[in-house]
Amino acid sequence: MGEHLPLEISEEEISLIRRTLMDARGFNLDAYKDNCVRRRIAIRIRATHCQSAREYCTLLHTHPGEVDLLLKVLTIHVSQFFRNFSTFEKLHQEIIPYLFTIARQENLSELKFCSLGCAGGEEPYSLALILADHFARDMERVPVVIEGIDVDGAILEAARHGEYTPERLVELPPHYLRRYFTPQGGHHLLLPSIREMVRFRQGNIFHDDVYQRCDLLLCRNVLIYFAREQQDKVIANISRALTPWGVMVLGKSETILGESRSLFQTVCPVERIYRLPAHVRG
Ligand SMILES: C[S@@+](CC[C@H](N)C(=O)[O-])C[C@H]1O[C@@H](n2cnc3c(N)ncnc32)[C@H](O)[C@@H]1O
Repeated sequence: MGEHLPLEISEEEISLIRRTLMDARGFNLDAYKDNCVRRRIAIRIRATHCQSAREYCTLLHTHPGEVDLLLKVLTIHVSQFFRNFSTFEKLHQEIIPYLFTIARQENLSELKFCSLGCAGGEEPYSLALILADHFARDMERVPVVIEGIDVDGAILEAARHGEYTPERLVELPPHYLRRYFTPQGGHHLLLPSIREMVRFRQGNIFHDDVYQRCDLLLCRNVLIYFAREQQDKVIANISRALTPWGVMVLGKSETILGESRSLFQTVCPVERIYRLPAHVRG
């Protein structure tokens, strides 16, 4: 099979793959965009040197290790500390101070931040670094619980370990690197004091138990993989999980479409920051 020839994957083969993923891992392929799914499956067909999609279906069915490799390709884990730096600046300068003010006014015992689709922990740890560096005194009065959630258990293990290659740190301001990381060969290991600020939990964005009450929820660069209907479900679930003053942040290329728009008000269109509409906030 030529490297660059388009690869035929029939509907029947997609169904076989769908069933294998569901039976082996309870993973629902339907939620993901069709062209995305086909492209990713083709990557694994080529990588395994299968001569056809049918041969790949057999391989997938008989080799549990290949199920994990396909899931890894389907749920890509690209991330970086302070990815889209200006978004984290906005969180640091405006959103987090606002949430601490609310916490004082409402007499909250804690604030809860959540990174949904947290990959290797870069996103929730970026929040932890901002909090440790700039809000230590606020946290003495109102502790902040940060949760990182992802469907992939293996990536969460890596996140808990907290060791990163330099390309994951290109947007990290240098003083954070000096203060909160230990060099480890060519890698950088995050200090335990920061790692301990984040709890990681395995969960699927399409399962209700993922959504717990929270004040700041980042769901960035995850919705892009899903079909529109599934995106709407996630947005609705997030709107129900947020506290009345809660804030949601999407990825730079993501937006709220159609009827879901009535669930949120835009705080900052450039940084894709939203909150619940006034009648919900009360
Ligand atoms: C491209 S990464 C985004 C990481 C980070 N939010 C960021 O913007 O840098 C997408 C992450 O979403 C996770 N993901 C994909 N499908 C998911 C699902 N159904 N439930 C929870 N997480 C999912 C993937 O495992 C992956 O780690």
